[in-house]
Amino acid sequence: MGAASSALAAGAPAASFDGRPGLIDALGRALRDLRISVTDRCNFRCPYCMPAEVFGRDFAFLPRAQVLTFEEIARLAAVFVGLGVRKLRITGGEPLARRDLPVLVRYLASLQAPGGEAVDLTLTTNGSALRALAGPLAEAGLRRVTVSLDSLDDAVFGRMNGVDFPVARVLDGIGAARSAGLAPIKVNTVVRRGLNEDAILPLARWARDQGLVLRFIEYMDVGHTNGWRLDDVVPTAEILATLDAAMPVEPVPAGYRGEVAGRYRYRDGGGEVGVIASVTRPFCGDCTRARLSADGNLFSCLFAVGGTDLKAPLRAGASDAELAALVRRVWAARADRYSELRSAATASLPKVEMHSVGG
Ligand code: GTP
Ligand code: 5AD
Ligand code: SF4
Ligand code: SF4
Repeated sequence: MGAASSALAAGAPAASFDGRPGLIDALGRALRDLRISVTDRCNFRCPYCMPAEVFGRDFAFLPRAQVLTFEEIARLAAVFVGLGVRKLRITGGEPLARRDLPVLVRYLASLQAPGGEAVDLTLTTNGSALRALAGPLAEAGLRRVTVSLDSLDDAVFGRMNGVDFPVARVLDGIGAARSAGLAPIKVNTVVRRGLNEDAILPLARWARDQGLVLRFIEYMDVGHTNGWRLDDVVPTAEILATLDAAMPVEPVPAGYRGEVAGRYRYRDGGGEVGVIASVTRPFCGDCTRARLSADGNLFSCLFAVGGTDLKAPLRAGASDAELAALVRRVWAARADRYSELRSAATASLPKVEMHSVGG
């Protein structure tokens, strides 16, 4: 994998985004993050992501032969790190549904950025299998984790996860992550009008009490199967007003350029809460994220209609330098800014589904 570290030298544009060397896209944004989907399957059926009526028993998930092996993922990840990526996020579907995931974590945790810079390795999960896997994942080199949780109320959470999965088991998984030393633990909550607005305050109080970093996410029109309507979005301004009325908050500067969540801290002491406002306050201007689907397609935007196949050249024997050249071409041409251009018409475009690029 070492050959990838020289990939950047071969004709990469000069740094201009964050003062560090890297690939720069057509809108001046660096490539810093790679989100790696390791499976398109999930044991939940959240209606905003994998509605049960679409993803039923007969749904054709990727056949195993189409899914990248851990060796293939690790090789591609090394190429991306060689090109300037400094954060790897493992996603799905539900990544913990992929057998032997700690083996991949061990590969990814061993990647060295040129110059010895750290590579931030993390994972987004629904938490259902964390009780069993938090320890092995931490032991394999995972440092932190983000868990999705949309309510503390079983009836509401059951509707949000589509399979009546109990809250207690996710909380137990979060407890296991904490015991395993994964930190910080972040919690993502998608807020959907008429479904879980009432969860905002209880979740905020609980997360603060537990020392977890909670982020509320505006419901987005990812994919084209969730029947998204603007009316179902609870705007960030409303989420913040709800929070502020009960637990006054004030903004905190972003932790790094391109941070997705707007950060707030509680005025009366410790704790932070975040809002991810893709719909009402798009953050495309600083978007440094690329996404790799489980079948090896590279997507330059969460809302892309198509990707670039990296698996075919990989399996045909392409060298690291050839793979890097392909990624460099894709990134150089990148002009995506979907959230800034969103309209009623774009919601129904045949966009890639969230469960195949992992959010
Ligand atoms: P850290 O700062 O590394 O903890 O991660 P993050 O803030 O990038 O958060 P995370 O990866 O957990 O993303 C949270 C959610 O924000 C995702 O699940 C998506 O719903 C949304 N999101 C993340 N990246 C993008 C993006 O590039 N575009 C849009 N529109 N939404 C995104
Ligand atoms: N809108 C906003 N967030 C979504 N997620 C999945 N689908 C959507 C959507 N339509 C979030 C999940 C999880 C992450 C993987 O993406 O809640 O936190
Ligand atoms: Fe599964 Fe996450 Fe999608 Fe819910 S949002 S269906 S947990 S992949
Ligand atoms: Fe990045 Fe596309 Fe999301 Fe904009 S909509 S922030 S370009 S992934």
